Amino acid sequence: VKLVKKTVLIGATNFSQNCGEGKRLLEAHGFQVIENPYQRPLTREEQEQYISEICAVSAGNEIWDREMISKATNLKIISRFGVGFDNIDVEACQEKGITVATARGMNGDAVANMAVAMILALMKKLVFFDRTTREGKWVRCMGHDITGKRIGLLGFGDIAQRVSKKLSGFEVELFAYDAFPNEARAQELNVTFLDLNSLLCSCDVISCHLPSIKETYHMINGDVFNKMKKTAAFVNTARGAIVDEEALYWALKNGTIESAAIDVYEHEPIRMDSPLLTLENIIVTPHTAAESFEAFARVGLNTAQDIVNYFQGKNPSFPLTPKPFE
Ligand SMILES: NC(=O)c1ccc[n+]([C@@H]2O[C@H](COP(=O)([O-])OP(=O)(O)OC[C@H]3O[C@@H](n4cnc5c(N)ncnc54)[C@H](O)[C@@H]3O)[C@@H](O)[C@H]2O)c1
Repeated sequence: VKLVKKTVLIGATNFSQNCGEGKRLLEAHGFQVIENPYQRPLTREEQEQYISEICAVSAGNEIWDREMISKATNLKIISRFGVGFDNIDVEACQEKGITVATARGMNGDAVANMAVAMILALMKKLVFFDRTTREGKWVRCMGHDITGKRIGLLGFGDIAQRVSKKLSGFEVELFAYDAFPNEARAQELNVTFLDLNSLLCSCDVISCHLPSIKETYHMINGDVFNKMKKTAAFVNTARGAIVDEEALYWALKNGTIESAAIDVYEHEPIRMDSPLLTLENIIVTPHTAAESFEAFARVGLNTAQDIVNYFQGKNPSFPLTPKPFE
C-alpha cells in the first residue's frame, strides 16, 4: 500500500463491515484508513509495515509496547477500540506526548449482557445440557435458581454497574468490592460494598470486572478459590491476567467451586491443550463479550471521532494520558 496523506491504522477486525459510519467519518476528514484484514490481532511485523507513517491508531488487541511506540515517529494518538488498555504502554506514550484514549462505556452494555448470560447459563447448566443432548445423552441433572442468590461483583465500574442494573429484576442480592467505591452509584443500584474476603466467602456468584493492572495480576488465585463457596459460580469477562488459570483449573476439577464461565485468557487464543478445555463445568468463549453489531458501531464511531477531534485541537472523551490542549 502506498501511504499518502494522514494515515490511520485500525487494529480492530472487520472495521469496514461493522463500523461503516466511523470509517466514513475518518475519510470525510481526509484520513487514509489502513484496516486489519485478518480475524486476529496484527503481528509486530504487520504493525511495523506502517509504523513510521501513521499519525493515529485505533488499537485492537495488538501490542503497543515501549519498543513499538519508539518506532512510531509520527504517531499522535492511540484511540483504543475498546476499554482495556493492558496492551498499550501508556507511560511510554505519555513520555512521547502521544495521547491515549479509550471507548469507556461504549461496549459496556454488550459485556454486561455477556456476564448476565453467562451467570444464567451456569445456573441452568445451559451449555452442558446442549452439548450432552447433541451427543445423544439424556442427562437430566439439577441446576440452581438465581432468585435469592448473592451476586458478588469484583470491581464496581461501568460494566459491573450495568450488570447490577440488569440483574436487579432477578430478585438477587447484589454486593461489590472496589478499591475506589462509588457509594452514590451503589446506593442507586441497591448494591452493598463488602471487603474482598467477605465477598469471596459469602457470594453464590462472583463476576470479575476489574482492570488488568499490576495490582490485579493473578489476584484470583488458589487462595481466593479456596475462600469461595463449594457451590460458587465464577465469571470472568474482564481480562485473563487477573486469574491464575492453573488455579482455576484445579478449583473446578477438585470441586473447590462448582462452575465457571470465561471469556478472556492469559494467552489468546486459548491453547487447544489447555486443561480447562477438558472440564465439563466450564463455559468458554473466545473474547467475544463485546462483539455486538451495536457496540462495534458505537466504538467504531467513537474511535474515529476521537481521532478527528484530536487533529481539530479537541480532547478525546476518555483520555488516559494528560489532555494535550489544556
Ligand atoms: N471481554 C471483553 O470483550 C471486554 C470488553 C470491555 C471491557 N472488558 C474488561 O472489563 C473490565 C471492566 O471494565 P469497565 O469498563 O467496567 O472498567 P472501569 O474502569 O469502569 O471499572 C473498573 C473498576 O475497578 C476498580 N479497581 C481498579 N483497580 C482496582 C483494584 N486494584 N482493586 C479493586 N478494584 C479496583 C475501579 O475503581 C473501577 O471501579 C476491564 O478489565 C476491561 O478490560 C472486557
